Amino acid sequence: MRGRLLCVEGLDGCGKSTQTSLLVRWLRSLGYRVLRTAEPTRGPVGRLIRRGLREGMPAEVEALLFAADRMEHASRVVLPALRRGGMVVSERGLYSSIAYQCARGLREEWVREINRFSPLPGLTLFLDLPPEECLRRMGGKDLDLFERDLSFQRRVRRKYLELAVRGEVERVEGRGSVEEVQGRMRERVLRWLGR
Ligand code: TYD
Repeated sequence: MRGRLLCVEGLDGCGKSTQTSLLVRWLRSLGYRVLRTAEPTRGPVGRLIRRGLREGMPAEVEALLFAADRMEHASRVVLPALRRGGMVVSERGLYSSIAYQCARGLREEWVREINRFSPLPGLTLFLDLPPEECLRRMGGKDLDLFERDLSFQRRVRRKYLELAVRGEVERVEGRGSVEEVQGRMRERVLRWLGR
């Protein structure tokens, strides 16, 4: 595979979307061909997931839906772009499933197993912001079941930090101004690109 896959991870409300937009714009200005995408997708499985997150569903069902969405996303979007040699920047990916579905009480080995056909990102940036701050930024309106549960968000964060210690994701300090955080992300990306 010639292309590169970069994922941006973090809690709901951590600033992922803003930072991903800036990062993609910057990468394009450096001359990279970048496809920006996200999980859950806007496809049929992604739509099922969004409805499920509002109404609640068993953790196992949820995990399987995320894995199915990812598989569909990989074959339709991510892998073709990587084969063309492009760069894919995805908001969320495999490590969202590990962090969130394990925080829902599922075994990590099983979550990995059902996701084993997904492409592994070359770099995953975990934008780390305290859950209280994330919740404050989301403003409390129109939140889904995950988003309004602070103790759940704390468990998700703990799992991301565990992944960072194991070197599977790179923790990026999420506090500070938009520019400061963006600067930290760019530094990691440049290192990854060998520039
Ligand atoms: P989110 O990134 O908030 O999507 P959108 O902004 O388009 O609604 O993702 C929705 C929720 O799904 C979020 O709380 C994280 C959760 N999630 C998982 O639990 N597992 C996963 O594998 C993914 C991709 C997301």
